[in-house]
Amino acid sequence: MKALQVQQLGSLDDIEMVEIDSPDLLPGQIRVAVLASGLNYVDSLMIEGKYQIKPPVPYRPGSEIVGRVIEVASDVTNIEIGDRVFSPSGGFADEAVLSATRVIPIPDQLSDGQGATFMQSYLTAWFAFHKRAQVREGATMLVLGAGGGVGLAAVDLGVALGMRVIAAASSAEKRQLALDRGAFAAIDVLNEDVKLRTRELCGGGVDMVYDPVGGDLAEQCLRALAPFGQYLVVGFVGGIPRLPANHVLLTNRTVVGVDWGAWVGRNVVENQGMLVEVLAEIAAGKLHPVEPVTYPMSKAVQAMRDLQDRKIAGKVALVPLFD
Ligand SMILES: NC(=O)c1ccc[n+]([C@@H]2O[C@H](COP(=O)([O-])OP(=O)(O)OC[C@H]3O[C@@H](n4cnc5c(N)ncnc54)[C@H](OP(=O)(O)O)[C@@H]3O)[C@@H](O)[C@H]2O)c1
Repeated sequence: MKALQVQQLGSLDDIEMVEIDSPDLLPGQIRVAVLASGLNYVDSLMIEGKYQIKPPVPYRPGSEIVGRVIEVASDVTNIEIGDRVFSPSGGFADEAVLSATRVIPIPDQLSDGQGATFMQSYLTAWFAFHKRAQVREGATMLVLGAGGGVGLAAVDLGVALGMRVIAAASSAEKRQLALDRGAFAAIDVLNEDVKLRTRELCGGGVDMVYDPVGGDLAEQCLRALAPFGQYLVVGFVGGIPRLPANHVLLTNRTVVGVDWGAWVGRNVVENQGMLVEVLAEIAAGKLHPVEPVTYPMSKAVQAMRDLQDRKIAGKVALVPLFD
């Protein structure tokens, strides 16, 4: 099998394509031919050694995949050859050996790319809204990076939960993706004053800010919060902000940390339950994962650079083509 491998942390250029022997199946395992692998911003952070988790090298990057089952161990009864399944692990390779208990059949209405790219973004939003924040129907929410992976999922889930969502993004294409998922207004972060515009749209302030971006936008968005508003700290693609404590105290605001990434490692079973719930909502047409932009696996570095350069609207999937 072919796989991408990171020889050392520090630079995206240190990714290599390697040819490795596909292992024999152990009891309880299945083998899949990978159809699509989800690429997340976190993957490039990890390869560059900028993520809080530093894997020992060499390591194989990537996580969520959709694959077609091509072999099952003799004791496996829940999965058959030919099934199309989702797995939270598998990464950037053309084949994967997986535990049959960790894969989930993919609803027919999801393409391979959608199935391989919803997990990280939707489970972060699900964790934020069900386990960390107080969500109220009719509450207003400003989502930053609303045309990126994590932000777009928060728009979609927020709307499904009855929130009134404002989407902030840099391009018309990204804002349109969020409007298509039910945001009632969009803000151009490059040409509009986000705090003023939010206050105009919400008559004084917004009840929640969902922030996967940070950087310079963070303080003005904290100031855009209504009394008792919640500021959800989700990510830092624009840099780690310093939030002034006086503006947290004023009008009883709350800053809420959202770390699904660390939580999931210690709550595998509960997370699996969340995955099943999210997939059921997708199958019921209540959630709408975006069709991703696809790159051949041999162009993984280019895909990561395009994501870092804010060129991607929505999500990115790698398909196992190596040239
Ligand atoms: N807390 C958690 O558990 C958790 C889980 C998953 C991911 N995350 C974090 O969430 C963040 C977003 O991930 P993602 O997958 O949504 O990434 P993404 O798909 O690349 O989207 C990020 C968005 O941020 C905006 N942005 C603003 N300044 C940027 C800059 N300097 N560089 C790049 N993008 C910038 C871009 O939107 P505009 O061009 O519209 O501004 C971009 O669309 C990452 O920091 C990731 O580590 C956190």
